[in-house]
Amino acid sequence: MKALVLAGGKGTRLRPLTHTSAKQLVPVANKPVLYYGLEAIRDAGITNVGVIVGETAAEVRDAIGDGSAFGMEVTYIPQESPLGLAHCVLIARDFLGDEPFVMYLGDNFLVGGISDLVDAFGAGGHDAQILLTRVAEPQFYGVAELGPSGEIIGLEEKPARPRSDLAIVGVYSFSPAVHDAVRAIEPSARGELEITDAIQWLIRNGYSVQSHMVTGYWRDTGRLQDMLECNRIVLEPIERDVRGTVDAMSEITGRVVIEPGAVVDNSILRGPIIVAADSKIVSSYVGPFTSIGPGCVVQNAEIEYSIVLGGSSVIGVSRIAHSLIGRNVEVSRAAGVSNTHQLMVGDHSRIQVGR
Ligand code: G1P
Repeated sequence: MKALVLAGGKGTRLRPLTHTSAKQLVPVANKPVLYYGLEAIRDAGITNVGVIVGETAAEVRDAIGDGSAFGMEVTYIPQESPLGLAHCVLIARDFLGDEPFVMYLGDNFLVGGISDLVDAFGAGGHDAQILLTRVAEPQFYGVAELGPSGEIIGLEEKPARPRSDLAIVGVYSFSPAVHDAVRAIEPSARGELEITDAIQWLIRNGYSVQSHMVTGYWRDTGRLQDMLECNRIVLEPIERDVRGTVDAMSEITGRVVIEPGAVVDNSILRGPIIVAADSKIVSSYVGPFTSIGPGCVVQNAEIEYSIVLGGSSVIGVSRIAHSLIGRNVEVSRAAGVSNTHQLMVGDHSRIQVGR
C-alpha cells in the first residue's frame, strides 16, 4: 500500500498567512498540520509516500525532506496548477503504479490515526473507501447520501442544497480502479477534476465503494476557527512539562509546556499552553489553548485561545483572543491618543478590534 499526500493548493481561506506559507504547514500546537498526517500514515505501516506539491513546493520540501525524519521515503510530484484532487491522482499515475493507496489531504486533521481504516480497506476487497462525518455546514464539503442499509446512493461536491449532513473526510482509500475513473470524468463548475465525481463514477459503473463513519475528531483546517479548534484538541491532553526558566513571581497553572530556553517572568500562565524554545513571556497573562511559537515575545500583554507563529511579538496589548498571528509579526500599543488603532497589515488580513 502506498500513500498520496496532497500538499498543493492555494489556501485562500487562510490568507494572508498563505501568501508566504503553505496552508499545510501552519502549526497546531507548534507542529505543522501536515506532520500529523504523515505520522498517521507512517503509524499505519505505509512508508512509500508521494507528495503532491504546488506553488509552495520549496517550503514543503524543506519541511519534509526525503521523508527519513518520518521513517518514510518521499517522492515529490509537482502539480502545475490546482486542477483538483482527481487531477492529483492523474499525475501520480506512475508513482502509484498498480498498488492500492491512501489519499490524504495535507490540511486535514484526524484524531485517532488511520491504521484501522487502512486495515479495513486491505481486508474488504473494495475499490474505494471513504470516511464520513456529520457536520453543521455540509454545503462546504463533499456530501454523501446513504441508503437504508448504509450503502452510498450518491456523492456531490459542495452542493447548494445538501441531501444529508454527512461530509466526506479528506482521507480516501483506492484500488487501481480509480485510475479509470479520474480519466473518465470532466472538470466541475469550479474548473477542477473532483475526486467526489471520480468516486461517483466508480459507483455508477458498478465498482464497490464502502463508507465508514469517523467517530473521532476531524477538521479540515482551511479556516481560522478550525485551526484554533485543532489547536485546542491537541493541547487538551498535553502533560505539564516546564523546562524553561520561570521566575518566582510567575504563576503557572495546569498543563503548561515551556520548552528549554523559554523564559517566563512575572506572568500568569493558565494551561493548556505550549511555549516554544527561546520565547519570552514578561508581565503578561497567557490563557488556555494558546500556542506560542519559537522566538516570540509577549510582554505587558494578555492573550488566550490563540496561535502565535515564530519570531512574533505582542507587547502592551490586552486582550488578544481567537487569533492566529503569523511569523515575525509585531503587535504593540499605538502611541498618543488612547483608543487609536494604528495598523500596517498585509493583503487579505482580517482585523477585529474591540470597542
Ligand atoms: C475537499 C474535497 C471535499 C472534502 C474536503 C475535506 O474539499 O473536495 O469533498 O469534503 O476536501 O477536507 P476542498 O477542501 O479541497 O475544497
